[in-house]
Amino acid sequence: MRDVAVIGVGCTTFGEKWGSSFRDLFVEAGALALEDAQIAGEQIDAMYVGNMSAGRFIEQEHIGALIADYAGLATHHIPSTRVEAACASGGLSFRQAVIAVASGMEDIVVAAGVEKMTDVGTGTSVDTLAGAADREWEGFVGATFPGLYAMMATDYIGRYGLTREQLAQVAVKNHYNGARNPIAQFRQEITLDTVMNSSLVADPLRLFDCSPITDGAAAVVVAPLERAREFTDTPISVLASAQASDTIALHDRRDISTLDATVEAGRRALGQARLHHKDIDFVEVHDCFTIAEICAIEDLGFCAKGEAGTLTEEGVTALGGDLPINPSGGLKACGHPVGATGIKQIVEITKQLRGDAAGRQLDAEIGMAHNVGGTGATVVVHILGVT
Ligand code: COA
Repeated sequence: MRDVAVIGVGCTTFGEKWGSSFRDLFVEAGALALEDAQIAGEQIDAMYVGNMSAGRFIEQEHIGALIADYAGLATHHIPSTRVEAACASGGLSFRQAVIAVASGMEDIVVAAGVEKMTDVGTGTSVDTLAGAADREWEGFVGATFPGLYAMMATDYIGRYGLTREQLAQVAVKNHYNGARNPIAQFRQEITLDTVMNSSLVADPLRLFDCSPITDGAAAVVVAPLERAREFTDTPISVLASAQASDTIALHDRRDISTLDATVEAGRRALGQARLHHKDIDFVEVHDCFTIAEICAIEDLGFCAKGEAGTLTEEGVTALGGDLPINPSGGLKACGHPVGATGIKQIVEITKQLRGDAAGRQLDAEIGMAHNVGGTGATVVVHILGVT
């Protein structure tokens, strides 16, 4: 196995991007990443593209080939592969790129993610997302993602006594961070009152407990670490890449408010990197709902079950805290174009480690990314570090 490094990153702004097509979004993110890596398209050996559901959102399949074509690479005939694992599609596309380079099969590989969700209405969007759960046992009886995470929140609150204020503080903190991130969909700070008085979506989750529906794309370029300095003075090492799966239906889980796939992927990642929790300076977690951030902090092992609400309330997870969580603004403030989110997390970690995150810059050498598909049926965890 070869060591792998990120040599370039690019990201569109996230939001309701009615002036840009799916293709425009991908081409913009890809061009930014190539420019950042100072390479030309012809130097790319392979591409992996995370995308959950272009078939339902824009009625287009065959995304690998489409993207190679619109990136101007059709005549180079490079292998270009779509990767799908619901909301973890981006994290998984990064993992495929890392595996391709680590194995020695390819040298310069682009890992990207793209989703164009707002060309359909909220109903179709929510129903499409429900396909990431168990359609027969959950979707067909009316369960939506806000509904499933609301069940997790209800269970968690009953068992651990999380307060409404602690849950709301996750959103307040992520909006504060997102206000400092130029790609974020929501760039305004909010208060606890904003969250607690927003419309009820699925009790106890309110509008500001939810990530929104979003268009966006992100891309990164990876290369063997031994070649990385040919392209950049600030390569960022991939220290670990781990993936785990679990039952697709929430009701089949051992415990509905513990994501065992997160526990397992986090444990494997730390083992691969030979690191301990105290070595991790910050984490981008998959906060598709506020309760998801609380569970992620605990399931990754940064504190015991039932303690993440207090850590959040005390500011430990804020930008200036001991363990900043989601300095980008997370899915809550950046938005959640489902196929792109996992790659956006890698973009944020790379920027933080290179010192390129003006306005929300941390003093950090090692960052972790945590990307979840569905209610936890797929989890991908990466650890990146300065070289
Ligand atoms: N947080 C804060 N504000 C939000 C928001 C969110 N999550 N979603 C929408 N808004 C705002 C919009 O900007 C808009 O504001 P404006 O009136 O000032 O322009 C307003 O709320 C209405 O927006 P709209 O697009 O009509 O919202 P909606 O009712 O169609 O959708 C949700 C709201 C919560 C149903 C939708 O965002 C949702 O389903 N989110 C969850 C997505 C999901 O499940 N992802 C996968 C997770 S695993």
